[in-house]
Parts: sequence; structure tokens; C-alpha cells
Amino acid sequence: MLVTNKYLQTEAQKGQYAVGAFNTSNIEITQAIIEAHEEKNAPVIIATSTSAIKYCGIEVLSSVVRKMAEKASIPVSLHLDHGTDYDLIIDCVRNGWTSIMIDGSHASLEENIHLTSEIVKVCHGVGISVEAELGRLGGIEDNISVDEKDARLTDTEEAVRFVKETQCDTLAIAIGTSHGAYKFKGESKLAFDRLEEIKSRIDVPLVLHGASSVIPEVLEKANKYGANLGAAKGVPVEDIKKAISLGITKVNIDTDLRLAFTAGVRQILTEKPEVFDPRKIIGAGRDDIKDVVKAKIDVLGCANKA
Ligand code: G3H
Ligand code: 13P
Ligand code: ZN
Repeated sequence: MLVTNKYLQTEAQKGQYAVGAFNTSNIEITQAIIEAHEEKNAPVIIATSTSAIKYCGIEVLSSVVRKMAEKASIPVSLHLDHGTDYDLIIDCVRNGWTSIMIDGSHASLEENIHLTSEIVKVCHGVGISVEAELGRLGGIEDNISVDEKDARLTDTEEAVRFVKETQCDTLAIAIGTSHGAYKFKGESKLAFDRLEEIKSRIDVPLVLHGASSVIPEVLEKANKYGANLGAAKGVPVEDIKKAISLGITKVNIDTDLRLAFTAGVRQILTEKPEVFDPRKIIGAGRDDIKDVVKAKIDVLGCANKA
């Protein structure tokens, strides 16, 4: 069944758990995400970036995810991740996305309010929910690198004004995470006090981007089979749990799926050099992604919440 992020996150807010937003860009990743959630009876958000949509073609990606979602035994939202282009957003609206993120975090506050309000008007008219972002994460976003010095935490007063003026349904905040596999040089350090402060002032459900943990066992396996991912470091599971206990209801994960896929594919290519059937090779990556997604569902607390 297809639903919106607003619905899933409102339920999560009531139940004090979080829903995972997992990025996909092909059939196998989508299968792994949906199968894992069906086995755990958990709701899920399938996230598609601009580059994933370009990679697959918008109609193809829409058909793949929507068909699988319609057949699934769990609620699924098809979500545009980090939408920045008005025309692409409209294309997603026309092609059956149920949730849109408008990412105006690169713009000034006034511009972000303007951009977001425009998208809210369009989407609310057709029952699609809107996630907006305030503050700026570091790392790689749609192939653009955001320097550590340009990253900045979400300002609480700005968040209060932003939500009131834009009428966005959910808000992504920056509390020290970043996109990609190299999030921290030393110990992880998230601004939980800022999260608490924002949560106490606004009612809309909150989102945590850049939430991959760079799971040590997965990293070890990928490196064992020839990857070179030395200093990769993510957000510890305990920090994710704490963020959820303080009000985060959507947790974005892409990097952990990429690492799992890499580990699985590298293993089969190394251990079974006689294999050349793409389904066996990609299938091994799919299996490793599925295991990681099931473990995430336990961390997020959304098992049996479908
Ligand atoms: O926000 C970033 C996501 O990991 C998407 O990355 O643009 O390479 O698909 P991508
Ligand atoms: P990670 O790079 O930590 O997986 O974050 C993904 C994300 O925020 C997608 O929007
Ligand atoms: Zn993100």
C-alpha cells in the first residue's frame, strides 16, 4: 500500500519509534528493502535521489517502486530525496511519488521559505506530503561536496518561523551528521541539546539525514575482500537510538546499503571466480543489503508497526 511520509511519521511520533528512509537506484536494492520490511512487518520510506532518478529513468523507477509497494503487505512511501529542481519535483508529482523533499538548505532563510512554500502549495493540492530542510549537513549530496566549514546546525528560532510560514509537513534538521562514509575524524558528536530544544518548540515530525552507522562488521568484510575504505566512520547505533528517543521519526540511510552491497559482491567475486551470472553477483549484494536493513529495523523500533 502506498502512503505519505506525513502519515508514516505521524504514526511514528505517536508510537515513539522511527521509520527508515532507504535510498534505492535499482530493482535489487528495492527488493531487499521491501522484503526486509515485509519480514519484519514494518512500514518503510523508499527514497530516490535526483541522480538515482536520472540513472533509472523516472517512469521506470516509479513503476518498479510503485508496483512492489502495491503488492507489499506493508505501507510504503515513495519519496524524493533532496529535491532541488522545480521541474523534477513536478515530474515526480506526475509520476506517482507520495512524498517530496524540497531541499532549500543551500539558500538563504528567506529564499528557503519562499521555495518551500511554493512546493507545499503544489503538493498539498494533490495530497503529497512535503519534507523541508533547515541548517546544512556536510558531506556529499547529489555529487556536490559540502565542506565542513559550510555545514551548520539548525537554528531553533529559525525553525519555529520556517515551519509556521511554509506549512511543511516534516522537517530535516542538522545536528552534526553528514552524508557519506566519512562522518567523523574522531569520536562522533551530535548536538542532542539542539534536537531537544527544536523538538520542544515545533510539532511537525523531525528527520535525521546522514544517519548511516558505517557498520564495523560490514566495513571489515568489504575491506577483507579488497575494498579500500580505511577511515570510514558513521553515527553509532546508540546515538541513533538516542536521537529517536528525543523525537526523530525518519532516519535516512544510503551509505550503509552501498557498503553492504559492495561487501556482498566482493565476497562472491573473490570466493567464486567461476561465477559470471549477473543475477548471482548482484543477488549476493542484495542478500547483504537485506540483512543490514533487517538490523536497522530493530534499531529504529519499527518492527510490527505496519
Ligand atoms: O543524500 C544523499 C544520498 O545518499 C543520495 O546520493 O545522489 O549519490 O544518489 P546520490
Ligand atoms: P548516509 O550517507 O549517512 O547514508 O545518509 C543518507 C541520506 O541522508 C540520504 O538523504
Ligand atoms: Zn540526505
